[in-house]
Amino acid sequence: MVPELEKATVRIRQPERVRGIIRSLREQGVAKLQVISDFDMTLSRFGCNGRRCPTSHNILDTSRVISEDGKKKLKDLLHYYYPIEIDPNRTLEEKRPLMVEWWTKAHELLVQQKIHKDDIAQIVRESEAMLRDGFKEFFDQLHKNNIPLFIFSAGVGDILEEIIRQANVFYSNVNVVSNYMDFNDDGVLTHFKGPLIHTYNKNNSVLQGTGYFQQLSTRTSIILLGDSMGDLTMADGVPSVENILKIGFLNDKVEERRGKYLDSYDIVLESDETLDVVNGILRYILTET
Ligand code: TMP
Ligand code: MG
Repeated sequence: MVPELEKATVRIRQPERVRGIIRSLREQGVAKLQVISDFDMTLSRFGCNGRRCPTSHNILDTSRVISEDGKKKLKDLLHYYYPIEIDPNRTLEEKRPLMVEWWTKAHELLVQQKIHKDDIAQIVRESEAMLRDGFKEFFDQLHKNNIPLFIFSAGVGDILEEIIRQANVFYSNVNVVSNYMDFNDDGVLTHFKGPLIHTYNKNNSVLQGTGYFQQLSTRTSIILLGDSMGDLTMADGVPSVENILKIGFLNDKVEERRGKYLDSYDIVLESDETLDVVNGILRYILTET
């Protein structure tokens, strides 16, 4: 059915169930399909050249427009809060207020840096941002088949949009909800527009008023892509879900987190820097029956 599912990086707890969902997605047809995806460490790579790849926040945090003191403070925040974000032994209730703290402090520091709107394209160009291998086929397949792609990100919207724009895949079927910067008349960052999106509130609570999923009420087949336990609620605002396939990238602390990921995601991709499996599933679904 999908040869890519034989890759060594693929883990599935209930293979029969997964095969059933994929079959239904194909039977329901392209017109009913939509894709909902996280950005950082899901569409973008986790590792590159033996090092960690930057998140959209990291791209800004380490860029030339941030003072040395600002860089240090942002890095200290990352080193303090990231282990909390991915800690399998803490509940989401425990993590939520701490994530609000992290994002709030980070955004305050960024606002102090007088970042200029016109610098963003250059910052992204000079960064080590990398989309996962196979991104072109992924975005192209969705675009050619008019399948809406909703990118739901707790990262920085202006940065991630620029990454996909520079990769030439920011097509008309792509919609982004994320943390966007607001600039004054001189083009200087003054604040981040609300509501604040962090790892663990990616659900309908921050989509109120967007009407996005309501417009797509006939799209009852969902492929959800994420890398965090917080990404699992991204489709909660879809009015009627008939079939949903959840694919999770398990990038970090693989051994410790495997059990929880297998409990929650239908397909878990361990240390897989590619979109091969997603592309394989799409190719199968999009093949004329
Ligand atoms: P997301 O991939 O769930 O949308 O979350 C965005 C990632 O951004 C999350 O893993 C934490 C990370 N992050 C940073 O790297 N630096 C920061 O300053 C903040 C606030 C978040
Ligand atoms: Mg992510």
